[in-house]
Amino acid sequence: MKLIIVGSSGFVGKELVRQAITSPAVTSVVAIARRETPVPESLKDSSDVAKLTSVVCDDFLNYSDNVKHQISNADACIWLMAVTPSNSGKMPWDEVRKICLDYTIAGLEELSKAPRDNAKKPLQFVYVSGANAERDQSKKPWILGDYCLMRGEVETRVLDFAKNSNNAIEACIVKPGLIRDPQQGNMLINTFQNVATSIINLPVVYLHDVAATLLNQATEGFEKETLDCDDIVRIGKKT
Ligand SMILES: NC(=O)c1ccc[n+]([C@@H]2O[C@H](COP(=O)([O-])OP(=O)(O)OC[C@H]3O[C@@H](n4cnc5c(N)ncnc54)[C@H](OP(=O)(O)O)[C@@H]3O)[C@@H](O)[C@H]2O)c1
Repeated sequence: MKLIIVGSSGFVGKELVRQAITSPAVTSVVAIARRETPVPESLKDSSDVAKLTSVVCDDFLNYSDNVKHQISNADACIWLMAVTPSNSGKMPWDEVRKICLDYTIAGLEELSKAPRDNAKKPLQFVYVSGANAERDQSKKPWILGDYCLMRGEVETRVLDFAKNSNNAIEACIVKPGLIRDPQQGNMLINTFQNVATSIINLPVVYLHDVAATLLNQATEGFEKETLDCDDIVRIGKKT
């Protein structure tokens, strides 16, 4: 299958690319980001770097002909591009909203129009959100309230887009808590994170399990419309 990963240059994207080029179910990975996606380090013998095509996109509202060509004939797309909460204070709110919401919907529009040989089966679209994203716009969380409501709005828009896509797109929302890479960080950082996440009731999940869950759902089909942290731990461990 041909897999598109948007936001492939980031923390989750790099691990997802590493797992995807090792998966026998994946024949081609198109990694789209605003900069080159690096070839992953410490690859297994079964990894096939030839499966990976790095595509640089300089306008996520108006795709170039090259990007349109690269997304054609895709079977699945995993969408990782967003401004994370820690970066959201570093730029104007309108910009955060544009990157998180407008870029995602523009991407869905292009994917739904892209030519596909296997058009009878909907393109599988996995949107990675966050555990505290809130779809109910009347329930503002006490911390990062505007951000959590905005990410919840994106979840609703993605699901609505798929429902109205005339079977072009099938969507799944994945909602990780704080994602931890055991290869990085140290005991002090982990302890601080554990205290902070317990105060805001945010579960911790591991990077391997998140990427494995995303890949499993994109290649094998969606278990359900929304996957939470318990689902990520369960699916990630068995793959
Ligand atoms: N990390 C966590 O603990 C965590 C927890 C829960 C949910 N999530 C969600 O998981 C997804 C991926 O997170 P991550 O940790 O991998 O984030 P990340 O490392 O910041 O990567 C995000 C991706 O979005 C791209 N991006 C950011 N701003 C952009 C812009 N203005 N224009 C174009 N591309 C832009 C980044 O490009 P560059 O590489 O060039 O910056 C990167 O490819 C996000 O939706 C995030 O909210 C993450």
